[in-house]
Amino acid sequence: MRIGICSDHAGLEYKSRLISYLLGKGYEVVNFGTDSSESCDYPDFAHPLAFAVEKGEVDAGIALCGTGNGMAMTLNHHKGVRAGLAWGTAIASLVKEHNNANVLVLPARFISYRMAVSCVRAWLTTDFAGGRHQRRIDKIPV
Ligand code: RB5
Repeated sequence: MRIGICSDHAGLEYKSRLISYLLGKGYEVVNFGTDSSESCDYPDFAHPLAFAVEKGEVDAGIALCGTGNGMAMTLNHHKGVRAGLAWGTAIASLVKEHNNANVLVLPARFISYRMAVSCVRAWLTTDFAGGRHQRRIDKIPV
């Protein structure tokens, strides 16, 4: 499985550590930046990740910024992306089980790195439930 990952400066440290974690677990990882701790603008990194998800160049994505909201708002402008914010393992599982999120968004300034890894693990190992949840997802696009 190939996972795309991006962050702004606020999510950089967790992103770097998550890349090592994912590679260690055997995932292929594509890094869409940022790779600098200089202050930057999250859409500059969210859009390239979103395009890669839409084109099928990656199977799923992970995005990190301070609150997670800037990344989620940007990513969800893309028709082929369902980005879901998680700050705990139950929500990380449900965002896949109920919403089939193809991008997991993490609020790096509000969770520990340990929790970030737990959220990633929960999201990656949960299956979409389908059924009524598919019907609801089908009603999202405007
Ligand atoms: C950066 O200071 C911060 O605004 C950004 O990481 C994010 O929280 C925006 O939604």
